[in-house]
Amino acid sequence: MSKNQVQIFDTTLRDGEQVPGCKLNTEQKLVIAKQLDFLGVDVIEAGFPVSSPGDFKSVQEISKIVKNATVCGLTRANENDIKVAADSLKYAKRPRIHTGIGTSDSHIKFKFNSTPKKIIERAYEAVSYAKSFVEDVEFYAEDAGRTDNEYLARVCEAAIKAGATVLNIPDTTGYCLPDEYGTKIKYLRDNVKGIENVILSCHCHNDLGLATANAIAGIQNGARQIECTINGIGERAGNTALEEVVMIMKQHPNLNLDTNINTQMLFGISKLVQDSMGMNVQANKAVVGDNAFAHSSGIHQDGVIKNRETYEIMDPADVGVTESSIILTARSGRAALAYRAKDVGYELTKMQLDALYPEFLKYADMKKEVKNEDIHQLMEINNTLLYFS
Ligand code: KIV
Ligand code: ZN
Repeated sequence: MSKNQVQIFDTTLRDGEQVPGCKLNTEQKLVIAKQLDFLGVDVIEAGFPVSSPGDFKSVQEISKIVKNATVCGLTRANENDIKVAADSLKYAKRPRIHTGIGTSDSHIKFKFNSTPKKIIERAYEAVSYAKSFVEDVEFYAEDAGRTDNEYLARVCEAAIKAGATVLNIPDTTGYCLPDEYGTKIKYLRDNVKGIENVILSCHCHNDLGLATANAIAGIQNGARQIECTINGIGERAGNTALEEVVMIMKQHPNLNLDTNINTQMLFGISKLVQDSMGMNVQANKAVVGDNAFAHSSGIHQDGVIKNRETYEIMDPADVGVTESSIILTARSGRAALAYRAKDVGYELTKMQLDALYPEFLKYADMKKEVKNEDIHQLMEINNTLLYFS
């Protein structure tokens, strides 16, 4: 059975770049956009063109250099935003306008001082106007996560009638539980006229740490696009992390889902985004954190040295990490010490290892981590070096 293809919509340069302190200049954005294109993302959301002349220029320049991906610009549901976005995308091989409006009670009442009926009219008008510039129009129902499903279905129907090609269902505030978000997607699939002709998209925020789980729940219920960012950066607690959803789909063949992503580039592009934005991921970040393939307890180290799969569910090479690392600490056992000593040139016999191990533990108790230079020093202190020269 052929796998179902899931489109990866990267919004690192729009939702990700909105983060305070993560602002990038056009040159930096061009470098990242080129790498995203090599990575194999299907859509690059390059910016919010009306927001500033700098953002307009970035979207325009990115449109010129991207070879494969669709290039997308964000707008609100008004004519000026849409016109400016269309202008910024005019050099793109595959342009997409991403327009939309808030649909939850609080957005309708407090943000727009409007009525549900008028919001539907504005959604229809915005998509129709965007269609006068480009064929590919994505509609977002902001705060769909807290929007009543029946009303959301009516909004989606209006957007489809106006010609939307993709319907984005954002959990803007990161509030939904995975089964709630999945049920919402299923409800739309079952209750929106014309839904079979469009792609449903998951755009999940991470306020409760559920952005990745929610996006996967959406896909399991029939959505076929995920909006995500490298390293999960984005407003507040961030967006769904691209590297996480891609590796979940790769490591779970039973989901029967596939993407176009060249996963071996994931670690490199994560570092590029960290360096460009000056925003490091935590060491225990899934897939791309420094400790994602590092083993430090004796029991785990022994297991990994005997067979990597004992404690690793992914091959580090699949995400561009050269190898698993065995970190030497006071929790390490003999197997780890022998392994790392061999790595730096000392093949220890069992007797030598038994003699050295208590000395290693004393040394390790004084340090957070025993590094290669410490191993050499340990050998010298204990005169064991004589045995190896
Ligand atoms: O989180 C959100 O609702 C958004 C939309 C503007 C797509 O980022
Ligand atoms: Zn968002």
